Amino acid sequence: MAVRPVLKMGEPLLRQVAAPVQRFDADLTALVADMNDTMRALTGAGLAAAQIGVSLRVVIFEVTSNPRYPDVAPIPYTVLVNPELTPIGDEQEEGWEGCLSVPGLRGLVPRFRKIRYRGCDIAGTAIDRTVEGFHARVVQHEVDHLDGILYPERMLDLRNFGFEDALRDQVRPMPD
Ligand code: NI
Repeated sequence: MAVRPVLKMGEPLLRQVAAPVQRFDADLTALVADMNDTMRALTGAGLAAAQIGVSLRVVIFEVTSNPRYPDVAPIPYTVLVNPELTPIGDEQEEGWEGCLSVPGLRGLVPRFRKIRYRGCDIAGTAIDRTVEGFHARVVQHEVDHLDGILYPERMLDLRNFGFEDALRDQVRPMPD
């Protein structure tokens, strides 16, 4: 287990469409352990395997209750392998996002308000959840990484993009 360097926007690997996981083996366990260590070391809300240089369809996410983010409901720690995502309804809402691959910046991004996501955990057991709000946003952000998409590409207006310290109170605090 190790904290690994996080690739930053501009690295070609972040643009790739990641390959499905075929084997639920010790390599996958080791990959997820490194992802977990890295996400926690950087206090991120989520991480995709590509961000530590492995182009496989694996994401992890977790939001614990945190006084820094009083508006954000907790999300249980989840390892999601080979995810599929389906919007529920057409409703979208804008919210501020950050990304460990785009350090220091925040942007206002539209996402589906409610989604269903399916996939499996590290043991291959099925996961099937219907979620909304920030949980839905985090999953959409992480699954985008698997298709080589970073959040600035989803933004509608680049005026709502800036450095966190410069935006200050214009941005509701959000985890990365
Ligand atoms: Ni990200």
